[in-house]
Amino acid sequence: MGCNAYESHCMSDVMGQTLRPGGFTLTEKGVQYCKLSEKDLVLDLGCGMGATIGYLYEKHQIKAKGIDPSEKLLKIAKEKLVFSEFVLGTGNDLPYDVDSFHCVFAECTLSLMKDLNQTLSEVYRVLKNAGWFVITDVYAKNPTMVKELENYSFNSCIRGLHNLNELKEKLENKGFHIMIIEDCGDLLKELLVKIIFTYGSMDIFWSMATEHGDCNNGVKFQQMLKSCKPGYFMLIAQKREV
Ligand SMILES: C[S@@+](CC[C@H](N)C(=O)[O-])C[C@H]1O[C@@H](n2cnc3c(N)ncnc32)[C@H](O)[C@@H]1O
Repeated sequence: MGCNAYESHCMSDVMGQTLRPGGFTLTEKGVQYCKLSEKDLVLDLGCGMGATIGYLYEKHQIKAKGIDPSEKLLKIAKEKLVFSEFVLGTGNDLPYDVDSFHCVFAECTLSLMKDLNQTLSEVYRVLKNAGWFVITDVYAKNPTMVKELENYSFNSCIRGLHNLNELKEKLENKGFHIMIIEDCGDLLKELLVKIIFTYGSMDIFWSMATEHGDCNNGVKFQQMLKSCKPGYFMLIAQKREV
């Protein structure tokens, strides 16, 4: 894997423990919409430092498991949340049985999957019937340019901006019913303003976040990004077995 921007201190400096726009606002919305309770078992796909797992337990006594490919981020999660179960791995191959979870959260992580179709099949497999899939992520309002972003080795969700129509189609083809889809661009804007206040410009931020490892030039990446017109969305889908 190329440079993991989420391991950079620049990310946690502006976002804290939640490595995504909006903090817990959309997590809470997901909990309320899906009426999750302490009886439910949840998977946090791409759990990073485990912020959502801690939140679900502290606020709602909901137990969640976490999976992430970053040893560095998982180490932080494990030290903080000793009650939870964390696994090193990716969305391509979820080490859980069929029908294990009532809900899977993928907060700003689906855009990072190597094989999105495979990940969606895996999420479908591990969810119980009528289980929930809560997705928050970045998308391109101008999706004609998204393929070009994929050429960058820079490992950030912003590199995998979704084409929303394609994502919806893929979910429906797997057997998910889309229950809600909302634009949450305000949360992305808030984060961008915070980054600019902290670092001076997005160019400086990307250059610093990609300083270590084999990342491409942050400024070049930033220009390509602008032309895609990034947005942020929340989508909740439900597994319905035929
Ligand atoms: C934007 S961060 C979000 C982390 C966490 N969900 C949060 O919101 O705080 C993306 C996370 O996805 C993880 N990730 C990257 N590729 C992944 C993959 N193929 N499968 C699962 N997680 C992945 C990264 O290591 C990182 O922790």
